Amino acid sequence: MIKTDNPTLRHFTSLLDVSGDELRRLIERAIELKNNRDPDYQPLKGQVLAMIFEKSSTRTRISFEAGMTHFGGSALFLSPRDTQLGRGEPLQDSAKVISSMVDCIMLRTDKHETVTTFAQHSSVPVINGLTDQQHPCQLLADMQTWFEHRGDIQGKTVTWIGDGNNMCHSYIHAATVLDFNLHIAAPVCYEPSKAIVEAAGTRIKFFNTPLDAAKNADLIVTDVWASMGQEDEQKQRIRDFKDYQVNAAIMNAAHSDALFMHCLPAHRGEEVSSEVIDGPQSIVFDEAENRLHAQKALLEFLLCGKKS
Ligand code: CP
Ligand code: NVA
Repeated sequence: MIKTDNPTLRHFTSLLDVSGDELRRLIERAIELKNNRDPDYQPLKGQVLAMIFEKSSTRTRISFEAGMTHFGGSALFLSPRDTQLGRGEPLQDSAKVISSMVDCIMLRTDKHETVTTFAQHSSVPVINGLTDQQHPCQLLADMQTWFEHRGDIQGKTVTWIGDGNNMCHSYIHAATVLDFNLHIAAPVCYEPSKAIVEAAGTRIKFFNTPLDAAKNADLIVTDVWASMGQEDEQKQRIRDFKDYQVNAAIMNAAHSDALFMHCLPAHRGEEVSSEVIDGPQSIVFDEAENRLHAQKALLEFLLCGKKS
């Protein structure tokens, strides 16, 4: 957890910033907000969220912006191209200045340290909207989606197939916070960070093949083979990941009622076959929609002192 001078200030830079109880309450609240939308409920009236995007986004931008509007507030889209951040203004100064004018800051950036540095110097809550290391907001939505379809995830088995990337790291954190087993099949040299894996203990198990990892899985998850910023490696990665596609054979190895998730955007024919992502076990569009509801619950948690 990020240390601040203000003991009541909470950030969401990582899924590890919330406890299991808090995460379960956030999920419950997200489901409640989704099912009972009240246009008169505007807890963030007059409040402003600054959204700093150093990378592209469809879901994250729209869900935060729509969520703030639903709650009576507003969101500012800030690109480094148009702010002094892009011209090298120190992060510490930027965090102090921006947080003196808005009520919450969301950042999507390369280096995870950018988000943690921002949080250390911000007087308002800072939210990680994706870094090269983690994507915790996506996990709020993924876990909400699982709970809606199947109930609590404690003790279940989730299988991650593919790159040991930001999404994989946040799944490792989710396994820790919500106490589920995570099976990982990643090609050699594309495994997740050792430090993150070691901190998660025995819940995380590695398998040499995607088929072995998928056995007994309740949920199969994957992500693109080349993340944002890795476009130059795309061709090499297609070669290195060719045996790591989630297809019917993988889904057949899992439990018969297993579900499939992908944070999107997806590359059909690469990390997932069309028949899986567009098939009956896929819940990717619920997952995408739930970004809105889960982040509204998060904004309420961070800004209204309503600890769900
Ligand atoms: N899943 C996700 O974060 O999507 P965007 O990149 O469109 O925000
Ligand atoms: N791993 C992907 C996730 C996109 C939402 C990336 O970082 O590009």
